[in-house]
Amino acid sequence: MPEMPQDNIDISQMSATDKQVMIFSFYRDAELRGARLLFNLLHHLKDAEAQLKMSRHLADETRHAWLWTKRIADLGAAPYMMDDGYQRRLGLRTGVPKDLIDLLALTVVVEERARSRYMQHAQLPNVDPETLQVLKAVTEDESWHLSWIERQMREVARQQGKPERAEQALERYRAIDREVYATLAADEEMLMRA
Ligand SMILES: [Fe+2]
Ligand SMILES: [Fe+2]
Repeated sequence: MPEMPQDNIDISQMSATDKQVMIFSFYRDAELRGARLLFNLLHHLKDAEAQLKMSRHLADETRHAWLWTKRIADLGAAPYMMDDGYQRRLGLRTGVPKDLIDLLALTVVVEERARSRYMQHAQLPNVDPETLQVLKAVTEDESWHLSWIERQMREVARQQGKPERAEQALERYRAIDREVYATLAADEEMLMRA
């Protein structure tokens, strides 16, 4: 996550509350951008079952964004605007997905990252109960998101007669995700050590 939204912010000088606000702002930004991926998908998968799942999935992502926004508001703060967050850096590296399999694979990788961030956070000592509650709720949702999108991706690849495309797209995006995330991990760790 954490490159700084504004230049020259020194994490070590931030208050514990400020650090929390920044972490929640990163989560919020990722959820909102995740919702945008779902909006894009809505036009591509036309069958009833997929429309049902995408609608619920989209509702989840926007609710997640709200839950983080509410945590920020409850701390008496406003969200930081992320111009250079994880998803934006990722997008600069991956380029625009060129077909449906790419779009689904990108969604899988973003969901995997979200889930692992939330799980890591929940395991830290001294996480306050309100934050823990949100982390648990969102992690549960990310798990079903991940499983249905991954299944859908493999199904589309199979229908198109190129099942290997799913694996190739996943590998490509996962490699980019690891590189992008590595650039943010140090800052993130400092923020978590509130
Ligand atoms: Fe989410
Ligand atoms: Fe999700």
